[in-house]
Amino acid sequence: MLFQATEYIREKINNKYSPKIGLILGSGLGALAEEVKNPLKIKYHEIPAFRQSSIDGHVGQLVIGKFQGKEIIIMQGRIHYYEGYSIQEVVFPIKVMRKLGIEKLIITNAAGGLNDKFEIGDLMFIKDHINFMNTNPLIGKNDNELGTRFPDMSEIYNKDFLDYAKKCAQKINIKTTEGVYAANSGPSYETPAEVKMLKLVGADAIGMSTVPEAIVANYCGMKVLGISCITNYAAGIKNNKLSHNEVMEAGFAVKENFSNLIKEILKNL
Ligand code: HPA
Repeated sequence: MLFQATEYIREKINNKYSPKIGLILGSGLGALAEEVKNPLKIKYHEIPAFRQSSIDGHVGQLVIGKFQGKEIIIMQGRIHYYEGYSIQEVVFPIKVMRKLGIEKLIITNAAGGLNDKFEIGDLMFIKDHINFMNTNPLIGKNDNELGTRFPDMSEIYNKDFLDYAKKCAQKINIKTTEGVYAANSGPSYETPAEVKMLKLVGADAIGMSTVPEAIVANYCGMKVLGISCITNYAAGIKNNKLSHNEVMEAGFAVKENFSNLIKEILKNL
């Protein structure tokens, strides 16, 4: 199916573009894709073996075109494990992007803040992750053309890419933080006890995505940059109740900073 999906998209692109950069836009962050000039849009459900994302704040389409002078494939909305898809289905678009020639992948998400120093609206560069999803996207027969059976994960989030992105943020005066992202399968948010544990094991932010995508992107040789938008304090930290609306609203509120940062990163990539 990987071949069929890749060919379907390739035919639509029709030699107009040969993007090397991919961007996944998380909850509430999808609006950025609207800035692509003359975009080619392909709904996920049209593409063989792609699954449709069913969550508010995730449009569920590929947006392909030129952005900041760079040819790019944007996933406007992602597919989550908690939607009931298999973990292999969740990461299928990453494999397709690789087959299409993507070399660098920027993965973004909305996340709950665990680190006491974080504030709502902070943009956190992901330096490493902890997989608490209780599954792994590489389970199953290995595709040796994509990567090796036992891939190294000691630098999933490419250090040079991260240093470059930090410089971009400094250049345009956007405050960013850096930390470890942990992923829970969701869809329920964490309990206060789980949040306490996550803090103890060294996580700075918690979300329900990114980890499977980053594992697969690294496995098949892409350079990965991860950015979390801290949309709320994780459960129990401030005695607040969590809601998806709150997460999306915080995402909308940082739209400008987020969008400026991504643009600056793309400009000289
Ligand atoms: N927990 C898990 N996922 C999330 C959160 C959270 O607090 N905020 C946004 N996505």
